[in-house]
Amino acid sequence: MNVSIIGGTGYVGLITGLGLAIHGNNVICMDTDLRKIETLNNGELPIYEEGLAELLKEATDRNKIVFTNCLKTAVNKSELIMLAVGTPEGKNGETDLSHLVQALKLVANQIDSYRTIVIKSTAPVGTCEMARTIIKDHLKNRFTPFDVVSNPEFLREGNAVRDFLKPERIVIGVDVYASEVIMKELYQSFDVPIVLTDTRSSEMVKYACNAYLATRISFINEISEISEKVNADVHAILEGMKLDKRIGELYLNPGPGFGGPCLTKDLKSLISFAGKANAELPLLKAVLERNEVQISNIIDYVISELQDVRGKKIAVLGLSFKAGTNDTRNSPAVHLLEKLLEKLLDTKILIHVYDPVVKSIEEPLNSRVVFPKNIEDTLRNADCLIVMTEWPKFKELDLEKIYHLMRTPLIVDTRNIFPYRKVYSLGFRYKGIGIASKRFETIQSTLEKSIV
Ligand code: UGA
Repeated sequence: MNVSIIGGTGYVGLITGLGLAIHGNNVICMDTDLRKIETLNNGELPIYEEGLAELLKEATDRNKIVFTNCLKTAVNKSELIMLAVGTPEGKNGETDLSHLVQALKLVANQIDSYRTIVIKSTAPVGTCEMARTIIKDHLKNRFTPFDVVSNPEFLREGNAVRDFLKPERIVIGVDVYASEVIMKELYQSFDVPIVLTDTRSSEMVKYACNAYLATRISFINEISEISEKVNADVHAILEGMKLDKRIGELYLNPGPGFGGPCLTKDLKSLISFAGKANAELPLLKAVLERNEVQISNIIDYVISELQDVRGKKIAVLGLSFKAGTNDTRNSPAVHLLEKLLEKLLDTKILIHVYDPVVKSIEEPLNSRVVFPKNIEDTLRNADCLIVMTEWPKFKELDLEKIYHLMRTPLIVDTRNIFPYRKVYSLGFRYKGIGIASKRFETIQSTLEKSIV
């Protein structure tokens, strides 16, 4: 099938375009960002994502993909047009639909025969209906049949190529039969369940999924806080929970709170459009509030442990919002740095940051932290190490070496990547999420008793 992706160099657009090209479609990825178009035409990637370079090479070698900034070409040459433009957070948690509206108008100005227009961007329930109205208005007196379909994406950054090529399900929302046939044809080579529904329910599936995932994370973060206070071990609690098939094992890792461009934005959007429909959503509001507490708790702990923070050096490992991506949008690590620096203004605190793929951040933060070239320089003479991203290479660090590099052996491990018994036995002061610092004393006294 001939498919165009508007917003085709963005995260979702690019992965979708390349994935559909690999599945044999002729894909045009259109974007107004000329720099990204040039990058892609040079065979390079504008984002870091595992497996994407191989996908780009394969799609270009097979002549299945074109990158252009020409909307006319994209619309004229494709029977199916996907919109994957950004829908960022707007005022009061609402979704900013301006890019989508603009794209719809431009597409409407170009079409002259039947097109299926697919909304990939995450947008509030009712957006497909709104899109239909916008297109109709912009067709003016031209009679051009078209339809609008909802087809939400469920890609996780860091895992997006696998998620696209081997999805667990495909959700399609259609309001007329003709577009159902076309969408089924588009996904015919995918051997997965297709959930076929109306556009409103399909739009809602996306919000329900992200809200549920966020709820699990806030839930386990809350359980972690209780565990710390009652001197229980969240690892054991998780082991006991995950074996219950009704609960399952995913999305229960305690951490610094969920970040990234999607979960928080989508929760806020859901709360906002639900409010307009007279639904209050107290549970989901609490999920968001709980998430904000995580970083504050971590900062309070660091400050209280360091006591006099003046002239101290903090080493932060990880800047991306999770491992496997260079995306720092709404990253807990960035929030931590912002809040830490705000709280410790005038203390001449030194913050050294290392991330395997992110080498700078936006100003003014960028000039307020140091980016050493390697982990060793980051940790040398540090008074506190804060692990913010669960990069595999951090898990493999030699803890004994770290102990000797640091001035004060204090670790705040917000991803629980280090085995705490080993960390304690080396003499570190250690705080994981859901592991009370008191556990050390408990372990010590149990050991002493067993030796006696
Ligand atoms: C999320 C969803 O998982 C995707 O299904 C969805 O398509 C995407 O949003 C989207 O709406 O576009 P993503 O934001 O890439 O994907 O990342 P996740 O893997 O869901 O992680 C989100 C945040 O939760 C990260 O900060 C991560 O560290 C945190 N997290 C995740 C935890 O703290 N604990 C966990 O157990 C899992």
